[in-house]
Amino acid sequence: MSYEKAEAAAKYIKSRLDIHPKLLIILGSGLGKFADTLSDKVTINYSEIPHLPRTTVEGHAGKLVVGHCGSAAVAVMAGRFHYYEGYSLEEVVLPVRIAFLAGIQKMIITNAAGALNREFEPGDLMLIEDHVNLLGANPLRGPNDKRFGPRFPDMTEAYDQQMRSIALSKAEALGIRLRRGIYIAIPGPSYETPAEIRFLSNFGDAVGMSTVPEVIAARHCGIRVLGLSCISNMAAGINGGLLDHQDVVEVGESVSNKFIQLLSAIIPEL
Ligand code: HPA
Repeated sequence: MSYEKAEAAAKYIKSRLDIHPKLLIILGSGLGKFADTLSDKVTINYSEIPHLPRTTVEGHAGKLVVGHCGSAAVAVMAGRFHYYEGYSLEEVVLPVRIAFLAGIQKMIITNAAGALNREFEPGDLMLIEDHVNLLGANPLRGPNDKRFGPRFPDMTEAYDQQMRSIALSKAEALGIRLRRGIYIAIPGPSYETPAEIRFLSNFGDAVGMSTVPEVIAARHCGIRVLGLSCISNMAAGINGGLLDHQDVVEVGESVSNKFIQLLSAIIPEL
């Protein structure tokens, strides 16, 4: 059923557009401003797209913006679906599958994340080198639809090596510090306890509540992935303060310019 839904949505989106981008960018909490920087914008609200659920989180606008970043045609999702909102993982990854059927071949996925690595600071950007899925679920569970991809997709290089090199060299050229690390996905919506953070710190550098389902679905259908985290806070118990979603959104907004600069430099090279 997911295939037919994705197909109907892709058909609708294509009917609304004159350009057909090959690159999808999914924006995380507080990073929505990037969508405003595109030229020749066409905006489609999620509520207009057949079969797409609505977003419920503050800081996530819920619109698809298609336009140009420099000379590159891009599709930007401002707002995504999280597991903690109550959606099934199949619903969470539906936009990626729609994008695939609309012709997307590469994806830049971004998020806000808490730092597990004590060398990181709020406001840092992190290139995701690999992930750990602690959601306790996988979007590919259930009957496999071969039209999307194989039953047992390889995840050895989930985050594309060539795209990572481009991101690192562009960050260096711009003088933007780009950390590197492993992203761990937990279901949320409660933040972690300090004990959980001590546990997770053994296995990763940043923790968040998104991204991993979309990356699994993207790799399943052969979309190449670049992942970027915006470090919005030190994870629970690392520096004593309490965690607040508003702070996560505000840090995202405060690094927006740096983030937009980096994205705008990477995109034409991909
Ligand atoms: N934990 C989980 N998810 C998050 C965090 C965090 O500290 N910060 C932003 N998203």
